[in-house]
Parts: sequence; structure tokens; C-alpha cells
Amino acid sequence: MPFSEQARERAREIIARYPEGRQRSALLPLLHLVQSEQGYVSPEGIEFCAEQLGLTKAEVGAVATFYTMYKRKPTGDWLVSVCTNTMCGVLGGERTYQALSEYLGVGHDETTADGKITLEHAECLAACDYAPVLTVNYEFFDKMQAEDALTLVKQLQAGERPHPTRGARLCTLKEMSLQLAGFADERDGAVGEGPAGEATLAGARLAERYGISVAGFDPDTPISRKETPPQPESPGNVAPPTTPKPAVDAKPARDTHPGGVA
Ligand code: FES
Repeated sequence: MPFSEQARERAREIIARYPEGRQRSALLPLLHLVQSEQGYVSPEGIEFCAEQLGLTKAEVGAVATFYTMYKRKPTGDWLVSVCTNTMCGVLGGERTYQALSEYLGVGHDETTADGKITLEHAECLAACDYAPVLTVNYEFFDKMQAEDALTLVKQLQAGERPHPTRGARLCTLKEMSLQLAGFADERDGAVGEGPAGEATLAGARLAERYGISVAGFDPDTPISRKETPPQPESPGNVAPPTTPKPAVDAKPARDTHPGGVA
């Protein structure tokens, strides 16, 4: 078994965070822990987690294969995830991905021959206001056109650690995995600080200007006032009659205003 005594000690620490009888909930951080040791979740890592938690290898494997953050083959120090979802895609994300793929000579979920960089397509990274975005080991680089992304990976190849646009400083995938297992990075600059980015604040200011707020919002408020045509009745298609509830803040349920800004 390739896991050190320190890893075993950390595993015990993770498991101890959970109440008696609920220890199997420790599986997710344990998978991050084994990834922090080997750079991916190997068959030995699966076996290690199963042993620690009294699960079968099949049960652990089912979880490890469900989440894309658990890598099932050796992964580079730098996991470059390029968002090619709708917003980023139309603003240049697809071109960015293609440029990196061509330059690095790898496709989706593949690693460069020197084992340093893994490239992947990513679905929406929840930073659409900074599109097109990419992440390196889950840290954000905003508004990355193809030329910017190429400069970034060349810096990584040169041994540099460029600072993300927002958030904490870069660390390797193994180091990041250890943090995701719940062990804080104590180094200077390891924790991102500062206000939200300008694009996020612009949205907040618009909401403030037009009185859009979640305070007192009734979650049962219908999201559309549009009449829907009646559906043909069938034994499986009979819904109980409902009365639409008005929005309690007297605003339309949709986040719209007379100026048309959503
Ligand atoms: S579409 Fe790229 S972050 Fe949402």
C-alpha cells in the first residue's frame, strides 16, 4: 500500500470529524486525500478509502467516478480547465480551448508528455460575468482569450506561478487536493482576500438601483405570469387546482425592470 503514515494519520483525522455512525460521509475528503498523495485516485487509493471506511471497493469506485474532480489517471501538476459552455463559448472560450489543445498537443482530459499540464473542457464554472474564464487547479483566470491562455501555460511551463485574477495564489493539484481534504494551506497568500470583482459588483449595483432583492421573497411565487394552454386531461395528467400567489414585495417575480436590464 503506497500511503504514508502521515496520510493514514490524516485519514484518521478526517474520519474523526464525523459523528459516530456517519463516518462513511468522510469518503469525499478521503478521496481528495488520496489524490493529494498520488495526483489521482488510483486503484490503491480506492482500496485505501474502502479499508478506512469499511466500504467495498465498488462503493468507493462508484463515488469516485461520479465526480469529475476525482481524476482516475495520472494528472499534471497544473489542471487547466477551459470553460466552453454557452457564455464563455460565444465570447472566445472554444477558441481558447482549441489554441491550448493545439499548442500542448493534447485533447480533453489528456496530459502533456512531461506530465506537467492536463487540459480539460469544463462546463459552466460559475463565473459567467468574467467570461471567457479558465481555471488552473480551480483558481480563476478571467477574460482569457486564446493569446492570454497561451501566455499563461507558457509561464507554467517555465516554472512560474502566475497569480490568478481573483482568489488565492496557485498551488499544484496535489496541494489543492490536500486543501480540499480539509487541511488548510498555511503559507502567505494562500487565502484569497479582497472585495468581489467589478463585474459581480456591477450586478449588485443594478439590483440595488432597481430594488431587486431576495429579502422577503416568497419562494413559491410563480416565475411567469404567462398563461399556459390547458393540457389534455388524462389519468396521469391531472394536477390539483392552484391559486398563484402574488409576490410579497409587490414586484414582478421576474428580475426585470422598465429599462429591460435583467
Ligand atoms: S459559461 Fe463559462 S463560467 Fe458560465
